[in-house]
Amino acid sequence: MKVAIIGTGYVGLTTGVCLADLGHQVVCVDNDPAKLALLQQHRAPIFEPGIEALIAKNAEAGRLTFSAEIVPAVRQSDVIFICVNTPPKADGTADLKYVEQVARETAKALNGGYKVIVDKSTVPVTTAEKVRETIERYKTEHTTFDVVSNPEFLREGSALHDTFEPDRIVIGADSERGKRVMLELYRPLIEKIHAPVKIVSVRSAELIKHGANTFLAAKISFANLIAELCEHSQADSREVLEAIGIDPRIGRQFLSPGIGFGGSCFPKDIAAFKKTLETAGIDPAFVRAIEQINDRAWRRFVSRLEQELWVIDGKTIGVLGLSFKPNTDDIRNAPALKIIEKLKADGARLKVYDPQAMGKVKQLFTDVEYCHDPYQVAKGSQALVLCTEWEEFKTLDFKKIKAQMATPLIFDGRNALNPAELTALGFRYVGVGR
Ligand code: UDX
Ligand code: UDX
Repeated sequence: MKVAIIGTGYVGLTTGVCLADLGHQVVCVDNDPAKLALLQQHRAPIFEPGIEALIAKNAEAGRLTFSAEIVPAVRQSDVIFICVNTPPKADGTADLKYVEQVARETAKALNGGYKVIVDKSTVPVTTAEKVRETIERYKTEHTTFDVVSNPEFLREGSALHDTFEPDRIVIGADSERGKRVMLELYRPLIEKIHAPVKIVSVRSAELIKHGANTFLAAKISFANLIAELCEHSQADSREVLEAIGIDPRIGRQFLSPGIGFGGSCFPKDIAAFKKTLETAGIDPAFVRAIEQINDRAWRRFVSRLEQELWVIDGKTIGVLGLSFKPNTDDIRNAPALKIIEKLKADGARLKVYDPQAMGKVKQLFTDVEYCHDPYQVAKGSQALVLCTEWEEFKTLDFKKIKAQMATPLIFDGRNALNPAELTALGFRYVGVGR
């Protein structure tokens, strides 16, 4: 099939590359010239394991192209995916201006035949209806079309795996024709790996995505709540949560306490979900509590560090990990950045390192020292703060680290290190919820 992807960010690029790899003819459109220039050289503007090789493979096979032109992309395609960003406004409402803009541009490009327009961006319930109305209003030639909702559940860092082996494919379609086209598009996944398909109404599909992300965020906040109580009562949250999670009705995943969730999705999606509830006149206290606990997670961590060091002003603190989680260079809403801001405001001198996200962070702070490895971070530091559990931090030579540090203090914001081993080496180790 012929597919256009409008918006080639994390979601759009992954979707486009994977659909091309399944054998479809895909054109990825983006209005960012710098991004396009990289993509046209078969280079990925994001760090996502495996994606660059897959871009090259499919582009060289002639199945994947990149363009700035939305009109020809829409005209040549059967299916048009809207994958532009939906950032939060100041009050948490999802800003749909890019979605609306793409809907208008798509409408003007329509010149007959039948098209399926797919909302892939995470959007509040009833957005697809607005997209349909917008296209009706702005189209100039008779074209039949359906607007379908097809939310993505991919995680950054394992985006290709999540797309090729999805837990489920959700297709929100209110017409038989739209449904058939989407099933045909995903046929290779449905037939080869038996990906479970949920065919639902458009509105249900829109709610599934917000509901799923709110639930996952709730699990993390629950874990952080238990961690708070464990710190207070000297219990070990990992023991508590592991035993709780053994119950299959609860499940062990997404119950790791830490410095809180970040990223481009959870904070934005739960804020938008909260707004949707408010608009519907439903008390959003549940969602508000998730946000409040998440905010307390990193603040509590910093105040424990402040208690430990007594005075932060003038101290050198090393930060390991800047991205919002490992295996990505994405720093959107990364807890590490909030911790850095707070420690800077308290007068600390900061030395930082991340395997992938340094380039992006350099654009934010000019007054921190960027180091080329964790050992350089450790040099002269009075405390090391681990904010992202990259694999390479777990296998550091901690003897060497200790020799470099001014005082051997480790704050492990992700419970990723081995406290017994570090204590045996003479470190003072502080984790979360233990
Ligand atoms: C975004 C949303 O944050 C997410 O909620 C949604 O599910 C999918 O889109 P992501 O792919 O991470 O996720 O966003 P981003 O990396 O910002 O990519 C959006 C892309 O759209 C950018 O490359 C941007 O240049 C492009 N864009 C945006 C357009 O091409 N046209 C526009 O009008 C606006
Ligand atoms: C998330 C959803 O998992 C995915 O299904 C959706 O499509 C997009 O949003 P992503 O933002 O890539 O994906 O990251 P995810 O792996 O979910 O982690 C989000 C944040 O939660 C990270 O900051 C991570 O460190 C944190 N987290 C995760 C915890 O603090 N504890 C956990 O137990 C799990």
